[in-house]
Amino acid sequence: MARKGKERRHLKRRELVRVACEEDCTFIRTLSGEVFSVFGEYSEIIPQWFANPDVITLVYVKNGLPVGFAMLYVLSGEILAIAVLPAFHRRGIGSALLDHIQLLAGQLGLRKLSLHTAKENDIARLFFQKAGFTVIGAQEDYYPKGQEALIISKCI
Ligand SMILES: CC(C)(COP(=O)(O)OP(=O)(O)OC[C@H]1O[C@@H](n2cnc3c(N)ncnc32)[C@H](O)[C@@H]1OP(=O)(O)O)[C@@H](O)C(=O)NCCC(=O)NCCS
Repeated sequence: MARKGKERRHLKRRELVRVACEEDCTFIRTLSGEVFSVFGEYSEIIPQWFANPDVITLVYVKNGLPVGFAMLYVLSGEILAIAVLPAFHRRGIGSALLDHIQLLAGQLGLRKLSLHTAKENDIARLFFQKAGFTVIGAQEDYYPKGQEALIISKCI
């Protein structure tokens, strides 16, 4: 019994990336509202993407709780969103999620990943550039609130 208890405590502390389930929807909605609402009603839009069967959502779990997520549209290889709770930024969690998205995309036979990110979002641009992505274009008035987007991509 003592050993089992120890194992359980160990499991609880573990950090892992897994496919999101229905129970993660509230976390995804809340974090999306926190980090993306400056661009539009993303606390509504992102849960709709989550429900799309052609979208795979991964969550990063720390001590049993989700702290970040990433979404891949499998038909085109577009990364629809990636976000980490602000309190956990700069600890490699975004990179771990992106690595898993790239792995998954490769397993699905995709050869390229792409995404849009706001031109003003310097942190996201630096984050993707560090991971080997390149800015290949821009799209004016892309977001519901009117911001311009950069189009970023990487061959995998
Ligand atoms: C972009 C985001 C997902 C990065 O997550 P993260 O877990 O903090 O990223 P990591 O710790 O893996 O950082 C990897 C690299 O990205 C770059 N980077 C990340 N945050 C940065 C910052 N604040 N300033 C400069 N570079 C940064 C660095 O090169 C970093 O490597 P380093 O720490 O070794 O220097 C996170 O900032 C976030 O959730 N932002 C809000 C949502 C968003 O804008 N998403 C992207 C558009 S969809």
